[in-house]
Amino acid sequence: MKKLRVLLVGAAFSADLHSDGYSRIPDLVEIAGICDKDTGRIKELAERYGFTGYRAYDDFNTAIEDCDCDLVDICMPNFLHHEVAIKALNAGRDIICEKPLATTVEDAEDMVATAERLGKQIYYAEDWLFAPAFRKAKAILESGQLGRPLYIRARECHSGSHSPFAQSIRYCGGGCMVHLGVHPVGFMLALKDNRWSELTAMTSGGGETNLVHQKMEGEDWAGVFIRFADGTYATLEANYVTVGGMEDVLDIYCEQGCIHVDLSFSGPVKVFSIPGLDYTVEKAEITTGWSTPAVDEKYSLGYCDEILHFVECALAGKEAQVGLRGKDGLETLRVIDRIYRSAREGIRIRNDRMEG
Ligand SMILES: NC(=O)c1ccc[n+]([C@@H]2O[C@H](COP(=O)([O-])OP(=O)(O)OC[C@H]3O[C@@H](n4cnc5c(N)ncnc54)[C@H](O)[C@@H]3O)[C@@H](O)[C@H]2O)c1
Repeated sequence: MKKLRVLLVGAAFSADLHSDGYSRIPDLVEIAGICDKDTGRIKELAERYGFTGYRAYDDFNTAIEDCDCDLVDICMPNFLHHEVAIKALNAGRDIICEKPLATTVEDAEDMVATAERLGKQIYYAEDWLFAPAFRKAKAILESGQLGRPLYIRARECHSGSHSPFAQSIRYCGGGCMVHLGVHPVGFMLALKDNRWSELTAMTSGGGETNLVHQKMEGEDWAGVFIRFADGTYATLEANYVTVGGMEDVLDIYCEQGCIHVDLSFSGPVKVFSIPGLDYTVEKAEITTGWSTPAVDEKYSLGYCDEILHFVECALAGKEAQVGLRGKDGLETLRVIDRIYRSAREGIRIRNDRMEG
C-alpha cells in the first residue's frame, strides 16, 4: 500500500505533537523531509520518534521545491502559515495547517481560494475535535438524548505561550483569543456547522491594560457571548492568567441534561510527591504535592487521531470532516476578527453572512 510522504515544516513544539501521531501509524506515513532553521531541532525530533531516511532542510523554500512529498505539514509560527501554504499548494501539495489558519482573514481567504483553484486540500488542525472526551460529549449531545442544547460554555486557558512570536500581534494575529480561544471557537462552529448569528465580546486590551502580561501586545484575557442560528447561546473564553496547568473545559446545558468535561485535570491517576515529578500536565509550573499526571496526553488532547484522520483523508484524496477543512479555519478566524472588533468598539456584531 502507498504511504503518504510528509514534509514537516517546523520541528519544535507542535511538530512534536504531530510527530507523535505519525510515529503511531508507520504503515501509512513516511516522513520524507523535516525543515527548521534550527537544524539541531530536526535531529532531536527525528531521534525522539525514530524517523530515518528523511531529508533535512533549513529553508522552507528549498524544502518545498526539493522534497518529494504528497503533503506539507505546517508547524511554523502563525505569521508564516500563509507564505508556506501558498508555496506548498502551488507546488501541488496538500497541506496540514496548525491553528490559527493565518494571522489575517485576508490571508486565510487567499489560502482557501488557492487550494480550491488548484484542487488541493487544506487540513485545518483543530485538535479539540479529536480529544476522546470532547468527542464523547459531542456524540451524546448529537444523539439527542439530552434534548435541545441551550447553553454551552468552553475555555482554553494557561499562564502564557512559550513562543516568543506570541508577544507580537504582527507575528501572532492577536493575543490569547487567537492563540487559545481559537479552539473553543472552532469547536463550537463545528458543532453548529458555522451557523452563528451574533456576538458580543470583551478583552483586556493588550499592553499596559493587560491583567498580567503587560509587555505582550495582544490581550491576556478575552471572552465572548455568541448566539447560534439554532438559538443555542455560548460563552467562550481564553486567558493567559491561569496558573497550575492548561485548562480545557467544556460545559453543555440541554433541556433534559448536561455534560461537564475537564480535559486536563480529570485523569484517573492521582499522585502525591514531595520531591515532585518530571512532568504532570501541559504548562503546570510545579509538580510537587498532589497532581493528576496526564495519561497519554498527546492522545487525550486529540493530536494522534487528528493526524490519523488527515493522513487517511489525504491518502484517499478526500476533504476532512466539518471543523477541519480550510474553510472552517477561515470561518474561525472571521469570528475571532469580529470578536476583536466587538471588544474594540464596544458593539454587538451580527453575522452578515447569515440570513435571519
Ligand atoms: N494545536 C495546538 O494545540 C497547538 C499547540 C502549540 C502550537 N500550535 C501552533 O503551531 C504553530 C507553531 O507553534 P510552535 O509552538 O510549534 O512554535 P515553536 O516556536 O515551538 O516552533 C516553531 C519552529 O519554527 C522554526 N522556524 C521559525 N521560522 C522559520 C523559518 N523562517 N524557516 C525555518 N524554520 C523556522 C523555529 O526555529 C521553531 O523550531 C503555531 O501556529 C501555533 O499556533 C498549536
